[in-house]
Amino acid sequence: MPRPGDGGSPPVDEATGDPPEALADDAVLQVDEIRRASEVDAVLDRLDNELVGLAPVKTRIREIAALLLVDRMRKKFGLSSSRPALHMCLTGSPGTGKTTVGLRMAELLRGLGYLRRGHLVSVTRDDLVGQYIGHTAPKTKEVLKRAMGGVLFIDEAYYLYKEDNERDYGAESIEILLQVMENQRDDLVVILAGYKDRMDDFFRSNPGMSSRIAHHIDFPDYSVDELAAIAGLIAAEHEYVLPEDTVGVLRDYLDKRMQQPRFANARSVRNAIERARLRQANRLVREPGASVTKQQLQALEPADFLASRVFTDHYEPRVGDDADGTA
Ligand SMILES: Nc1ncnc2c1ncn2[C@@H]1O[C@H](COP(=O)(O)OP(=O)(O)OP(=O)(O)O)[C@@H](O)[C@H]1O
Ligand SMILES: [Mg+2]
Repeated sequence: MPRPGDGGSPPVDEATGDPPEALADDAVLQVDEIRRASEVDAVLDRLDNELVGLAPVKTRIREIAALLLVDRMRKKFGLSSSRPALHMCLTGSPGTGKTTVGLRMAELLRGLGYLRRGHLVSVTRDDLVGQYIGHTAPKTKEVLKRAMGGVLFIDEAYYLYKEDNERDYGAESIEILLQVMENQRDDLVVILAGYKDRMDDFFRSNPGMSSRIAHHIDFPDYSVDELAAIAGLIAAEHEYVLPEDTVGVLRDYLDKRMQQPRFANARSVRNAIERARLRQANRLVREPGASVTKQQLQALEPADFLASRVFTDHYEPRVGDDADGTA
């Protein structure tokens, strides 16, 4: 969405194109109209429909959305509407939806007119920090340039900082990030993501970073019910169906898988579905002269999950389980 007002032209309201004059003191605004002019409801509804659970996360996002709408209305009256602090930190176990929510956040902020572009640039330490002296600043600046107008998502941000290595170039990258987070906060939202305990350590060593983060959102682990609901969504996304008896087996699978190492919440569910698709395919084409119906092509059967190693008594995850689908 092009934003008049960028590049020196006189400011105009992003959503309505209204001239900047303030409304009369006794004017009354219809909140619904302001909402409609933004895309906030569409994004919030998608968040509700497409993401299972995550109640605390959704609540916080609704609060931020409300704040941004109020800010927009204040602006119409000529009231100070300094943009609220939006940098955030998303913590939680693997596969709890941090990256997914980061993406949605970028859409939401664009829908509210707070980001020019609303894209998400996802990076890790290697994208920001160079190997040699003089390489880090250009790398970090290049990433920041790409992210301007959108969200910079730094996954496993704590790797930027190595406590026991004073000469690590990560510190240089952090310095530059801190400056931009302060000075260009109107045009860039930085989202840090990672495991909670390591992120806490990172903030303890980098108080400057901690103080620039307005929202700390912790993602809870999913219950079996939620994981099963996620499985239904993922299956539907690929136009597969999970019949009732399959859901029962899948719940047993999840019960067991949750207790095992390298369990990665929703990602493990996605991987389990992928493997079930492979087994289903194998099952359907195995017999010479086989015929299939549309229904059979869609249904993942209990057997497609029961064949998993998770159901053997001596399950030992191999290196790469839940990364390359061997479980
Ligand atoms: N609440 C949810 N509802 C539906 N699908 C979800 C939910 N949370 C995560 N997923 C799905 O699970 C997968 C993993 O999610 P995502 O990559 O966002 O997790 P993450 O927290 O960023 O993981 P990591 O810590 O490993 O980076 C994605 O495919 C996403 O679509
Ligand atoms: Mg992630």
